[in-house]
Order: sequence, then C-alpha cells, then structure tokens
Amino acid sequence: MKILLIGLGRWGEKHLRVLGELGVELWVSDVSEERRGFAVKAGVAAERAVADFRVALPHVDAVDLVTPADTHLALASECLTSGRDCFIEKPVTLTGAEGRALADVVRRTGRILQVGHIFRFHPVATALRERIQNGSVGRVRYCTGRFTGFKRPRTDVGVTQTDGIHYFDLFAYLLGQAPTAVTATLRDYLGRGMDDLSFTTVEYGEVPAFIETGYFAPGTYRDCVIVGDKATLAGDFGTAVVAIGTDIEASILTTSALVDLGVRRIVAKAVTEPHGKILERVGASKVIFPERDMGVRVGHSLAGSIIDYIQLDPGFALVETVAPAELVGSSLGAAQVRQRYGITVVCIKPRGGTFTYATPDTVVSEGDILVVAGETDRAEVFGELQ
Ligand SMILES: NC(=O)c1ccc[n+]([C@@H]2O[C@H](COP(=O)([O-])OP(=O)(O)OC[C@H]3O[C@@H](n4cnc5c(N)ncnc54)[C@H](O)[C@@H]3O)[C@@H](O)[C@H]2O)c1
Repeated sequence: MKILLIGLGRWGEKHLRVLGELGVELWVSDVSEERRGFAVKAGVAAERAVADFRVALPHVDAVDLVTPADTHLALASECLTSGRDCFIEKPVTLTGAEGRALADVVRRTGRILQVGHIFRFHPVATALRERIQNGSVGRVRYCTGRFTGFKRPRTDVGVTQTDGIHYFDLFAYLLGQAPTAVTATLRDYLGRGMDDLSFTTVEYGEVPAFIETGYFAPGTYRDCVIVGDKATLAGDFGTAVVAIGTDIEASILTTSALVDLGVRRIVAKAVTEPHGKILERVGASKVIFPERDMGVRVGHSLAGSIIDYIQLDPGFALVETVAPAELVGSSLGAAQVRQRYGITVVCIKPRGGTFTYATPDTVVSEGDILVVAGETDRAEVFGELQ
C-alpha cells in the first residue's frame, strides 16, 4: 500500500515510525525543509520527501494528515477530492461548521475519512466498553475524565479542543450516544488568546460527564471514572504493562514508544539484568523479572520447610514456613525469636485454622505455619530450619 504522510512534526514522527514498521511505500510531505531532511535520514527516499503534497497525491492510495488543526479542512478536502481516503489526526476540524463542510466532501466523493482519537482504540477503552455493555456497571449515572499535566501548550487550538476532545469522543463511544448539551468554564491564564484550563460538562442524554483539562497540574493525569448504579469503573490511560520478554528489541522499542507517548507509569518485564537496566534507562517506571522471581520462589519451596518466598527488596524477604521444632511449646517472646534468628514473625496459622497476627505471647504448636520477615539471608536460614 502507498501512503502519503502530510506533516512530520512532533506527532508526525510517531506516524512515520509506525508506517515504517507496517512496511508501506511511504511518501512524506512537509513545508519545512528541515522536516523533509529528517524524513530522508529516517529512510524515506529523497524523491518521495516533497514540500507540496499535491506532487505526491497521484502516487498514493491514501493520506495520513498530521498537520495543525487549522489546515485540516483545506488539506483533507483536496485529498478526498483527488480520490484518496484520508486519516486525520484529531481534532478533525477547527469548528463544527468546518466539520460539516468536510462531511459534505466525504459524501460527495464517497471516500473514507477516519479521525485519530488515541483513547478510542486503547485497550482500557475496550475493557470499559465491555463492562458497560455486559451490564456489570448497571445504568451509568455519570462519568468524569482528566487530561491534565505539564506539557507544551499547542498553538493551533486550546487545551479543550486538543485534550478534552479525547473524552468527548470516548464517552460518546462508551455510552453509545452523541452529546446532547455542553457547558464549559474556560480560562486563558497564559494570555495566548486560547484556553489553557477548562472544566466541561457534556451531557449524553441523562448522563453527565465532567471533563477537566489544563496545562498546570504537576504530573500527568489521564484517567476517568464511570459510575453506574451497580458498580463503578476506574480507567487509567497513564499506566501500561510491557509483557514482551522473548523479543528484547521489541520490548525496548515498545517501552520507549510509551515514554514518548507520555504514559505516566510503565511496568516492563525483563528477562535478564542487562535487559532490565536498558528498560530502566529508556524510562520504565518499574522493571519486573517474573521468570527469575518465580524460579527463586519455586527453588525455595523445594528447600527445607519453606512454603512460599517473596523477595520484597534485594536484601529483604517474606518467608512462609512450617514452625521449626525448636520453637514448639514456647511463646515467641520467651523464645527470643528476633534476637536469636534476626527475623520477625508477622503472623501464624495453626493446623486447620486461619492466619492471625503474631504477638510475643503467641505460643507455637507443632505444624503451625509462620510468615516471617527479615533480611534475605536470615529469613532463608530460618525458613530452612526443620
Ligand atoms: N492523537 C493524539 O493524541 C495527538 C497527539 C499530538 C498531536 N496530535 C495532532 O496531530 C496534529 C499535528 O500535531 P503536531 O504536534 O505534530 O504539530 P507540529 O506543529 O509539531 O507539526 C506539524 C507539521 O506539519 C507541517 N505542515 C504544516 N502545514 C503543512 C502543509 N500545508 N503541508 C505539509 N506540511 C505542513 C509543519 O511544517 C510541521 O512540521 C495536530 O492536529 C494535533 O492535534 C494528536
């Protein structure tokens, strides 16, 4: 397939990477010479990196439009009229009137127009929709959404249109209904002639949604809550788990792409220490080693009387073990467990009973199960006592 990417700015770079991975025959158009140079460095043939998109149009099947919003109507109309299907990054146009004009062009040309809204195709949105549709939430009462945090303010549209729009679309998708009423409070604290903070209430029939956007909250908040009469759903678009272990390159590239997307919390799986170090360096917030950790747990459970083993930190562990014979009949205080073994008994379970907190007066019986916490070496030694 032959695609023309128009606009190779900050977001267009991500489209360039993904289109490259899809293996399409790629043309790039950008009015900036520097951006065209970037495309060529990234592997686009020099003759396919053009200033005027009209030069490339006859050679492609479809267009990917990633230019500022105030150019969308004019550029998309021309691409559709030339017979090319068109993907447009949100917001589809600057105003409702422009949107209707573009819809007219689509009807007239019979081409496909698709708007890019990242939340709509996010796995979190799929999970939320499934739960609303299968009735587990009951009747939805209201929704809230936040898209806030420090970032460079856009210059083509205000924050409501660039960020709030993700939720306007998401809630319409989740509730299966277009908005019926909108009220909003907007502020222009930066004095740029466009909003940089907004609280918008969008009504979808009976269901109100409250959406907060703004550039001022420290951190990155991309979350929503959907309250129903049976249950409440909380969606966090700011957390991702990268569970790719077999293909290390893919794991690193995915983690780095999530960092680029501004995902706040990235939990990434590593298979080796060097892999884990690289994941940390590219920006993973937490690196986990499931195979190694499970191997350690299983190894411990095969040794001595250890039933389970959890490494809380490199130097600190929690061990579940059968009470050693030398403690049977003594209270924990009298046996001076902390002084003698360097561990603390956290809780205890008698044979056939359930766990309770351990105190110095707790008397140990044969067959009791203990959960102890302590420095790894000491906890291991205690767990292996018979
Ligand atoms: N879906 C999302 O989450 C998301 C995230 C960021 C940006 N966006 C959207 O992507 C679009 C682009 O944003 P950006 O941050 O990359 O903007 P940007 O300003 O960084 O880049 C825009 C690029 O388009 C080029 N350009 C402008 N007019 C052109 C024309 N007529 N022909 C060819 N090139 C032209 C500019 O030279 C520039 O390189 C915007 O609509 C924005 O809202 C979407």
